[in-house]
Amino acid sequence: MKIRVLGAGAGGGFPQWNCNCHNCHRIRRQQMQGTPRTQSSIAVSTDDVHWLLFNTSPDIRAQLEAFPAIQPKNGIRDTGITAILLIDSQIDHSTGMLMLREGKPLEVYCTEMVKQDLSTGFPIFKMLEHYCTINHHPVPIDGSSFEIPGIDDLRFYTQALKSKAPPYSPHRYDPHDGDNIGVIIEQISTGKKVFYSPGLGEIEPHVMAAMQAADCVMVDGTFWTDDEMCTQNISQKKAREIGHLPQSGPGGMIEVLNTLPNTRKILIHINNTNPILDEISDERKQLDAAGIEVAYDGLEINL
Ligand code: MLT
Ligand code: MN
Ligand code: ZN
Repeated sequence: MKIRVLGAGAGGGFPQWNCNCHNCHRIRRQQMQGTPRTQSSIAVSTDDVHWLLFNTSPDIRAQLEAFPAIQPKNGIRDTGITAILLIDSQIDHSTGMLMLREGKPLEVYCTEMVKQDLSTGFPIFKMLEHYCTINHHPVPIDGSSFEIPGIDDLRFYTQALKSKAPPYSPHRYDPHDGDNIGVIIEQISTGKKVFYSPGLGEIEPHVMAAMQAADCVMVDGTFWTDDEMCTQNISQKKAREIGHLPQSGPGGMIEVLNTLPNTRKILIHINNTNPILDEISDERKQLDAAGIEVAYDGLEINL
C-alpha cells in the first residue's frame, strides 16, 4: 500500500495565520530549519488510482494540487478520491468536505457520533444535501473489520479512543465511544498493517495491542509537553485535556513508542508550537536518536 501525507500539521497548520509563537515567527522569516505544514490528512491506495482520504482538511485544495496522482484524469470532471474516512468531527478533519461540493456524492465512512456532530453542531452533512450530497456509511467500533468498495485489497478495523469530541459538539463533556477512532489499515494480500491515530489522548490496552501488531504507526505528534500552550502564553489548555498525549515525560508518546523496536514510528498532526518542528532542536534530536520520524506534507510511505 502507499500512504501519502497530504497534511502533517495540527489545527491551524504551520505557520498559523495569527500566531507569532517561536516557531511561527521564525519559519515566516526563514530563521528556522524546518518546513511549513498544512492541516491533518492522509490518502491511502494500493493501485495509485483509487484513493481513500483520511479526513478532509481545510487545506484540501492545495493538498490535492500538490499531488498529481489524485487529480482528474478522465472526462470533464474526475477525481482520484474514491471515498473518505473521518476519524473524528474536528474542524481540521472535516471542513474540507465543503471544498469538495462541486463533485459527485461523497462516500463518507464515519461513526454515528461523528455523523451526529456533523449534522448538528457543525451541520456539513445537512449543508451538502444542497450540493454534492453525502452517502454515509457507518463505521463499526466493535472491532469488526470492514472494506470499502473501490479501495481494493485493503481492510480496516477501528478502535474507539479516549480523546475528545470537538469544542462545538453537543457532547463535548459527555464522551461516547466513536467520538474519535484510531484505524488499522491492513493490506489483505500482504498482511501489512498501519495504525493511524492523529488524535490519541491515552494509550489504552486495545490501542497498545493495535500498535504492537502494526508494521508502521502514524500517531499523535501534536505536543511535546502537556503545558506547551500555557508556557507560551497561547492558551490555558493542557494537551491531555484536549485529547492529545504529549511526547516527552513519563508515560509520554516517546516512552510508548520505545516499546516497539521493530515498528516504523511516525508522528503526525504536529502543532505549530511543538519544538520538534525545528529540525536542529534538542527535542528533534531526541526523536532522531529514538528512531521516531516526524511526518511532513508530501511524505510517502510504501509498505
Ligand atoms: C485538535 O486536534 O485538538 C483540534 O483540531 C483543535 C482545533 O480544532 O483547532
Ligand atoms: Mn486536530
Ligand atoms: Zn505558532
